Amino acid sequence: MLADKDRIFRNLYGIYDWGLEGARRRGAWDGTKAILEKGRDAIVDEVKKSGQRGRGGAGFPTGLKWSFMPKQSEGRPHYLVINADESEPGTCKDREVMRHDPHLLVEGCLIAGFAMGANTGYIYVRGEFIRERERLQAAIDQAYEAKLIGKNNVHGWDFDLHVHHGAGAYICGEETALLESLEGKKGLPRLKPPFPANVGLYGCPTTVNNVETIAQVPDIMRRGAGWFASIGRPNNTGTKLYCISGHVQRMCNVEEAMGIPLRELIEKHAGGVRGGWDNLLAVIPGGSSMPLVPAALCEPLPMDFDGCASVKSALGTAAVIVMDKSADIVRAMARIAYFYKHESCGQCTPCREGVGWMWRVLTRMAEGRAEKREIDQLFEVSKQIEGHTICAFGDGAAWPVQGLLRHFRGEIERRIDEYTANPHPDPMRVAAE
Ligand SMILES: Cc1cc2nc3c(=O)[nH]c(=O)nc-3n(C[C@H](O)[C@H](O)[C@H](O)COP(=O)(O)O)c2cc1C
Ligand code: SF4
Repeated sequence: MLADKDRIFRNLYGIYDWGLEGARRRGAWDGTKAILEKGRDAIVDEVKKSGQRGRGGAGFPTGLKWSFMPKQSEGRPHYLVINADESEPGTCKDREVMRHDPHLLVEGCLIAGFAMGANTGYIYVRGEFIRERERLQAAIDQAYEAKLIGKNNVHGWDFDLHVHHGAGAYICGEETALLESLEGKKGLPRLKPPFPANVGLYGCPTTVNNVETIAQVPDIMRRGAGWFASIGRPNNTGTKLYCISGHVQRMCNVEEAMGIPLRELIEKHAGGVRGGWDNLLAVIPGGSSMPLVPAALCEPLPMDFDGCASVKSALGTAAVIVMDKSADIVRAMARIAYFYKHESCGQCTPCREGVGWMWRVLTRMAEGRAEKREIDQLFEVSKQIEGHTICAFGDGAAWPVQGLLRHFRGEIERRIDEYTANPHPDPMRVAAE
């Protein structure tokens, strides 16, 4: 288990004071000026050396991303944008950081902003997170009052931080849709290139990072890249917030070392799978857009980027959704497809048409009202969506379907056989229909 001394999020459960005094007692805002005095390049290098990869889902190396920002401003301002949209089903970690330890994020914004030459930062908060937004704003107000941020602050780098709230669209978590929305437009993903580091918010160099990513930065800088890199394994370093939900005894958020075995994670922190480990059917390791992993591949499974990739899934947001044998796996995937159908922004034909098509076919398959040849057809359609769209939403909609077909084809065939032998006129409804 992760040693208490190695925890970054020491108030994850809101037991202690979230405010400035409490945050300071836990080590926040300690030596921030000295960190900034190291200089921009040294900070970017340290974050690179720590091996930290983005915690928002894609796992892109943070230091490398920061290094894409222009070194000198050619007149255009630089922006830091924090992605606090947290809409990936199963994910509920960033909200806890904003509610219970917001100063880690505010301090991280100042350091990251300085490292990228940004005097302004925006935090884009999911529309439904009303209390989180209020708490975050209160922490920002405290930081302004104590002259930790703002003009002529004690750290010597002018930095303004604004909170902006969305209106509850999943697609606004995609970084370029987020920028459009922040600019006051519809949240439609942009074609890339150009990438935000060159043409981002208001056409200016911008870096978008996740809440957890940035909230980890002050500790990386205070304790050193070596400390962060010593946790986990190469390419998968540091601590991670895992959100465990579904058929477990106790759903929870927990900070653990990257690479903790999935079984240990579930048994130590979530009280185990309902009915015991042998009652496990499958796990979605990284939020609803990642392919499921069947029980047979769940042990041993290191919960990190490489571990999840080795079973053809992905760590994503580390939102672990556990399904025991009582779960109707086909129906569950049909429901996930419904979510993606509902949230597609509609710009790309494969996504707009294909995801709804997959949902309708999966709904029939859940009841057995399908033909076996449609299974291959469904896979083919998912392949026509994956990689053929403006943004990664299309991939995220296709992967859960591919995971189902890879591991539970037999179950779909069984249902088709059963229905063919005994067709019933009253089809089961999908919850959201
Ligand atoms: C459809 C879609 C939704 C996304 N939603 C989120 C989100 O809610 N929060 C988030 O941090 N990243 C989300 N991302 C990833 C962002 O586009 C971006 O990669 C991330 O914010 C970068 O931060 P990081 O490098 O710190 O991980 C989403 C991506 C896609 C394609
Ligand atoms: S993949 Fe889907 S969500 Fe993304 S831009 Fe295309 S239509 Fe919109």
